[in-house]
Amino acid sequence: MTQLSQLDFYQARINQYLEDKLAQFEVNDEKLLAAMRYGLLIGGKRMRPYLAYITGEALGLEVSDVDGIAATLECIHAFSLLHDDLPAMDDDDLRRGQPTCHKAFDEATAILAGDSLQTLAFDILANHVFTPKADIKRIALIRQLVDASGYQGMCGGQALDINATGKEISLIELEKLHSLKTGALLKASVNMVAEISSEISDEQKNQLALYAEHVGLAYQVRDDIIDIISSDEQLGKPAGSDVAANKSTYPALLGLQGAQQKADNLYQQALQALATLPYNTLNLAEFATFIIKRAH
Ligand code: IPE
Ligand code: IPE
Ligand code: MG
Ligand code: MG
Ligand code: MG
Repeated sequence: MTQLSQLDFYQARINQYLEDKLAQFEVNDEKLLAAMRYGLLIGGKRMRPYLAYITGEALGLEVSDVDGIAATLECIHAFSLLHDDLPAMDDDDLRRGQPTCHKAFDEATAILAGDSLQTLAFDILANHVFTPKADIKRIALIRQLVDASGYQGMCGGQALDINATGKEISLIELEKLHSLKTGALLKASVNMVAEISSEISDEQKNQLALYAEHVGLAYQVRDDIIDIISSDEQLGKPAGSDVAANKSTYPALLGLQGAQQKADNLYQQALQALATLPYNTLNLAEFATFIIKRAH
């Protein structure tokens, strides 16, 4: 399969999984369920699931085991976006080419839809039918998701982002902020999959983790760049939002060229880590290329 058709294939697969999951709910509150569906299923590149699936392929894992990991990560990601767009945070009106959830519904519903999607992530990890080899890693997977999404991960990074708004922070502080708010979930997309492999050595796990760390950070560096160089139409979210909000970003600290240089360095480091691995890592390398070149 070419990389493009493979991306389509995995996007369709994860969308179906998430559709089925929402379809299992009894309807208690139609508006809340509609807002969850809106935040989870309309649009989105599905990059975290894709990264999980291609890691699973490289390690020769059962795709049905990777489904549970991919789905749990996408739910946390969708939750993070619903809350990120709220007036109390980035106050954005457009997401994935549509009005943001709090605009399409209302703020209370967007908050609750985010909360419910976060809980749904843990529902999936608790209940997904894993093969026995992966099933014994369920608690370890929950630990990884907790670290990646909570105080020590995405939520902690979002707090650093809010605190850094309107201030000049150091490059070291900015790297920490980015690594937590965005890097942590992308890193988990690789590391949670590596967790269920019984074949991989500790050293190989470390190298994969290094790849994931560099790619995860590069993802947010490029997000900050495209906030400046792309249009609303290309992004499906408001371009120029970071400058308008006086956010701490790599382009703000280093300029556009300096920021792209940073993304390129991270890319090279990601490839170096991959080169040490005895697997077919072509798709992982192509993913890194896509990340630093993407325009949306
Ligand atoms: C946007 O994430 C927020 C960041 C963490 C940079 P994505 O660029 O993955 O957004 P979707 O899921 O494709 O909409
Ligand atoms: C988003 O960072 C990080 C998370 C949602 C965790 P941004 O605020 O830069 O994301 P966009 O640009 O709104 O997608
Ligand atoms: Mg934000
Ligand atoms: Mg935002
Ligand atoms: Mg952004």
